[in-house]
Amino acid sequence: MERIGVPTARHQSFTDSQAASAYIREQGAPIVVKASGLAAGKGAVVCHSVDQALAAAHDMLDEGTLGGAGHHIVVEEYMTGEEASLFAICDGEHFITLTPAQDHKPIYDGDKGPNTGGMGAYAPAPAMTPALVRETEERIIRPVLAEMRRLGTPYQGVLYCGLMCTESGVKVVEFNARFGDPECQILMPLLKTDLVDVLTAACDGRLDQVQVECAPEAAVCVVMASDGYPQFYEKGFEIRGLEAFADRDDLVVFHAGTAQRDGRVITDGGRVLGVTATDADIQAAVAKAYSAVDQIAFDNAYCRRDIAYRALGRA
Ligand code: GLY
Repeated sequence: MERIGVPTARHQSFTDSQAASAYIREQGAPIVVKASGLAAGKGAVVCHSVDQALAAAHDMLDEGTLGGAGHHIVVEEYMTGEEASLFAICDGEHFITLTPAQDHKPIYDGDKGPNTGGMGAYAPAPAMTPALVRETEERIIRPVLAEMRRLGTPYQGVLYCGLMCTESGVKVVEFNARFGDPECQILMPLLKTDLVDVLTAACDGRLDQVQVECAPEAAVCVVMASDGYPQFYEKGFEIRGLEAFADRDDLVVFHAGTAQRDGRVITDGGRVLGVTATDADIQAAVAKAYSAVDQIAFDNAYCRRDIAYRALGRA
């Protein structure tokens, strides 16, 4: 990103904790300390004081709390703004983008508590205006694809752009080479073009010849989880009420942590179901998703009650 001028947080990388500490002191707080390797979602520590940042860097580099993933860290600027995700399907040269989305990673309402894999998501995310989508396409996605091609490793697949909408424009928080969970659950019902046609065009390098249509509607996914997630939780409880949604196009219950036992569906993981509704606007989709959530029951069920609150606050 640095080499090709893609906007992202100001940052430096370290393997030595003394050098990292000096940089943290110089930059001050708030600041973010990130493990460079994969750390099951626990690799980014948002630090509100210099002491917290020094401790995070020390833990990763000197104590090895994240194993090899934390032997190399990135210390970066704390960016303020609203986060959003834009998914590009890429064929190595051309790309198409899907409806901009926003997910809710923290476990509790108001985006409080530890991060999870995602407790809900919605699209379109009003924070990503059409102008910001264009800016992301031109300043982030197109140059990244051009650089990957230039390096001899053209990128074919889904480019998940995790973004921060800051006062000085859109900046990259992270890239993933996959769809988001639960963002995928809201984007697929909005995609009107056959996904197989889009993916085969991406494989064949002819995405420029495909017209991709996303419905001008809203989609909301509320994750029903096992109480205790993302730490300890019990499982094996029967899930009741699913049959009411078997034939609905506008209300899809995606199974995540479930299993079948003796003909019954039971809970079998932390994030159990992704209850996903589409409707004309976010407000209607939120109401529909929560009305479905209230008809589904299992012991120890937990969900956030405020999915899409930022979008509703703007309405
Ligand atoms: N929902 C966040 C992720 O898939 O990484």
